[in-house]
Amino acid sequence: MMTKNLLKQAGLDQGLPSHFEEGAWVEVIQRMDDIYTNLVQYQIELEEKNAELERAYTELKQAHQALKDTQQQLIQSEKMASLGRLVAGVAHELNNPISFVFANMHALLGYEKRFLQYLEAIHNNVSLAQREQLRKQLRIDRIMSDIRPLLEGSMEGAERVSEIVKNLRQFSTPASQKPEVFDLVALCKRTVLWLVRSASIKIEVVHDCPEQLMIYNYEGYVSQILVNLVQNALDAMEHQAQPCLSTALQIKDSQVWVQIRDNGTGINELDLHKLFDPFYTTKPIGKGTGLGLYISYGLATEQCRGSLSARNYYEKGQNGALFELSLPLKWSDAHG
Ligand SMILES: Nc1ncnc2c1ncn2[C@@H]1O[C@H](COP(=O)(O)OP(=O)(O)OP(=O)(O)O)[C@@H](O)[C@H]1O
Ligand SMILES: [Mg+2]
Repeated sequence: MMTKNLLKQAGLDQGLPSHFEEGAWVEVIQRMDDIYTNLVQYQIELEEKNAELERAYTELKQAHQALKDTQQQLIQSEKMASLGRLVAGVAHELNNPISFVFANMHALLGYEKRFLQYLEAIHNNVSLAQREQLRKQLRIDRIMSDIRPLLEGSMEGAERVSEIVKNLRQFSTPASQKPEVFDLVALCKRTVLWLVRSASIKIEVVHDCPEQLMIYNYEGYVSQILVNLVQNALDAMEHQAQPCLSTALQIKDSQVWVQIRDNGTGINELDLHKLFDPFYTTKPIGKGTGLGLYISYGLATEQCRGSLSARNYYEKGQNGALFELSLPLKWSDAHG
């Protein structure tokens, strides 16, 4: 009865069936009470879970950022390693033009001495006969005809040095990389030349490429991929008696396909599927980290909008590994 009175007081007794007994009400209210308590409990739990979820989300975001930073650092350190490998070849390349600039300067210094001697004689009003004799003796005419080629040769050498330095700059600033138009054939040949020069063994190089192929892409990244592929090829041919490295460039299905082929050890067929996994390496500690292909694959597919694949080949008694890098001919048509 008490419950009924309470409901009446609260004005909630309207429309209640007359047979509704107080016992039933007590039970209903008890249940509602339980439900309410449960609801409050659920809400508290929900809030806790929500806070937990938020914490987990923040942690996940931080971990993702850390992973992204690490990946960037890995790319950078692998790039530095590529650069290190190139240095010996670059030093060799620089040596050539620098040494002929030196030789030319040396010759010009000698010429300058003879010129001064001849000019001094003229200023001292020597006789015509003496002047002619001096002219022959000092070989002034020969010097005159030599000066231009010497200067032109030196200019060419200086230009070659500045070109090499310019090409090297593409390795230095990864963040500011922007896609641009460049000659893929020249890049390919340059990379091979520099790395082959730095190798300890003599390697035959065969290029099957057009004269020039201009594409729009990230030159620095493409170069980094090529350095990795060529360096791997050179490593694989270390114990080969007649090492041969071939490159080929072909256009097919609106892509340009760059093939790097060696006649080295080849890749263990059972390991082919893990070739692009991070830290997969068969090289001794200190020689390889197993990141070259992993990073190259990421750069090829994500940055350069292309693909990278590997296989073994067996042809005309030759065998070894063949890597294929594809790049879009038209940047806008490629997925990115
Ligand atoms: N041309 C190749 N011929 C035979 N095996 C190869 C060739 N290229 C790659 N490999 C195999 O794939 C592995 C992974 O290559 P990857 O470039 O990723 O790492 P790495 O060369 O070992 O080390 P680094 O991080 O210095 O590049 C190599 O250790 C080698 O076993
Ligand atoms: Mg490598």
